[in-house]
Amino acid sequence: DPLFITDREFNILRANRAFHEFVGTEEVIGKKCYEITHGKNKPENYCPHLDTLLTGESSLQEFYDEEKNRFLLYTTSLIKHQNGKELIIHHIKDITFLKSLEKERDSLLSQLLQAQKMEAVGSLAGGIAHDFNNILTGIMGHAELAEMKLPPDSPVRKNIAVIKEASDKAKDFIKQLLLFGKKTQIERKVQDLNTLLKDSLKLIKKMLGEHITLEFEPSAEPLYAYVDSAQFTQVIINLAVNARDAMPEGGTLTIGTEREAEKGKDFVLVRVSDTGSGIPEEYRQRIFEPFFTTKPEGKGTGLGLSVVYSVIERHGGFIEVDSEINRGTTFKIYLPDSGSSTVHIPDGSDGSEELPCGEESILLVDDEEMIRSTGRMILENLGYQVTTAQNGREALEIFRSDPDRFDLVLSDLIMPEMRGTVLYRELKRIRPDVKFVLITGYGIHEVPPELRGEFHAVVEKPFRTTELARVLRDVIDS
Ligand SMILES: Nc1ncnc2c1ncn2[C@@H]1O[C@H](COP(=O)(O)OP(=O)(O)OP(=O)(O)O)[C@@H](O)[C@H]1O
Ligand SMILES: [Mg+2]
Repeated sequence: DPLFITDREFNILRANRAFHEFVGTEEVIGKKCYEITHGKNKPENYCPHLDTLLTGESSLQEFYDEEKNRFLLYTTSLIKHQNGKELIIHHIKDITFLKSLEKERDSLLSQLLQAQKMEAVGSLAGGIAHDFNNILTGIMGHAELAEMKLPPDSPVRKNIAVIKEASDKAKDFIKQLLLFGKKTQIERKVQDLNTLLKDSLKLIKKMLGEHITLEFEPSAEPLYAYVDSAQFTQVIINLAVNARDAMPEGGTLTIGTEREAEKGKDFVLVRVSDTGSGIPEEYRQRIFEPFFTTKPEGKGTGLGLSVVYSVIERHGGFIEVDSEINRGTTFKIYLPDSGSSTVHIPDGSDGSEELPCGEESILLVDDEEMIRSTGRMILENLGYQVTTAQNGREALEIFRSDPDRFDLVLSDLIMPEMRGTVLYRELKRIRPDVKFVLITGYGIHEVPPELRGEFHAVVEKPFRTTELARVLRDVIDS
C-alpha cells in the first residue's frame, strides 16, 4: 500500500515505492502533501492530516477517486520522532474490491427481504384463497341453479349472467393468489418455449385488443426450458395485460426469445416489450411488491407482477426490467436452459355445454356447510340421489353400513380428522371398485403427485355445474 510521512507543515519527508506509483511521480520529497495527492495549493477542509493534528488521534476517511473509479481508505496517524518532532504517517488503501462485496451484500439483503415478503403474503394468500373458494362455490352454484329454474325469456337471466361473470373474475383473482401460495407446487416438464408462446398468442391477441399490434420474434431454434406451462403462460399474460394498460392509445407489444449466457450460465431469455408509458424511476423498486399498483381502485390489484416474480423464482430464473418514460418497457425473463428436447403433449379440450344427468346415488363429503348444501342442490338438480357427510369418519360409517348403495363418492381433500386421500384408502378396503372423485380447493397441485393417478377424477373448487356434471357422468360410466 502507498505510505508516506510528513512533518506538521504538510511537507513530505519520506515515501515508499507504492506511493510513487500511486501518484505517478518520483518527485515528492519536500513537496506539500496536498499538492501531490490532490493537486491543490492548500489543504482541503476534510484533510485527514489536519484532523490528526487537531485531535492527536488517527483519522480514517473514505474517498472515491473519480478519475480512476476506485474507492480509497485514507488513514493518518501521529508519531513522535526521537528528536521530539511530531510526524504524520499517511496510509492509503484501495478498497474497491471490499466496496463491491458490500454492494453485493446489500443487494442480497434486499433480495432476501423481498423473498420474505413474498413468502408471508404467499401463506396469507393461500389461506384466504381456500375460504374464498368455498364461498365462491356457493355463489356460482346457486347462480347456476337459479338460472336453470328460470323461464328462457326471464329478464332476471341478465342479472344472473352478471353474477356469473363477476364470479368468474373472482375465480381468476383467486387463481392468481393461489399461484403464490405455498400450496401450489409446480408441475414442470422440459418443453420448447417458442411452441408454448405460439400456442398462447391467440389468447394474448384477444386480450390486447385491436389498437395494439402483437409481434412475435422467436429464436430460430427451439428453446427448451423446464417449466410449468400453465404458470409460464400466466406470467406472459400478466406481462401482456400490463403492457396493454401502459398503451391506452395503442402501440406494439413484442414477445421475443433467444438463448443467452449470463453470469457464466446458459439461459433462455424471453423478452416482453411494449411501447407504452414507461415506469417512473421511483416505482421501479416497488413494482414486484404484492399489492403495489398505480392503477385506479377496482382496476388493478397489484398482484400481477408479484405473481410473475414468484413463479420465475420458483423456476430457478430471474427477471429484469428496462424502462424509459414515454418510450416503453421491456421485461426480461431468464430461465435456466435445459438444452434437450422432449415430447410436447397438447391438452385436450371440449366445447360441448349440455348437462349430462343421472339417477345414481352419490355420497358427498365436505366439512363446509356451504359446499354440502350447494353441492347437494346441484347434484339433485342433475337428477342424482344425494347423501351428505361432514367428514371422513362419518362418510366411512355411512358407507360401511351399506357399501353397495353408492355409485360414486365425491369428497373434499382437506378436512379435519380424515383427509380425502385417507378416506379413499379406507373405502377401497371395504369395496375395491368404489368410484371416487376428489374435490380440491387449492388446485390439483395440492394432491401429492404419486396419488394423482389414483382417483377417478379431481375437481377444483369453485366448480362449475357443467364441469361437475360431465366429470360425474364420465366416471360413473367408466
Ligand atoms: N409494462 C408496464 N408499463 C408501465 N408500467 C407498468 C408496466 N408493468 C407494470 N407497471 C407498473 O407496475 C405496477 C404493478 O404491476 P402489477 O401487474 O403488479 O399490478 P397491476 O397491473 O397494477 O394490477 P393487477 O396486475 O393485479 O391487475 C402497475 O400498477 C404499473 O404502475
Ligand atoms: Mg398487472
